[in-house]
Amino acid sequence: MPTRQRYLFVCINRRPDGHPKGSCAEKGSEALVVLLKEALAKRGLAKDVVRACSSSCLDMCEAGVAILQEPQHVVYGGVTAEDVDAIADAAGTGAVVDRLVARGAGEA
Ligand code: FES
Repeated sequence: MPTRQRYLFVCINRRPDGHPKGSCAEKGSEALVVLLKEALAKRGLAKDVVRACSSSCLDMCEAGVAILQEPQHVVYGGVTAEDVDAIADAAGTGAVVDRLVARGAGEA
């Protein structure tokens, strides 16, 4: 089983309808995992460079759909399908999509 240089953890936590915190799944994150995997595969990155994984709650619920990129240790917030290509491109090189960063490396 190969390890990857980078990982994208996509929160797919789902809370009951009407929960005050909402959840990433409620905002469409399950579909984003599929799109992200497709985007990485299309770029030839999925096998040994970047792995997209689903995750439980990253405690960034207020930021919209949250994705953690490691080892850069940044959390993207409010991610939509329109952001998937930019995230895949950045993860391929170890860069970060600055406009999506909700919590950066070293922030509490
Ligand atoms: S539900 Fe996704 S970060 Fe909390």
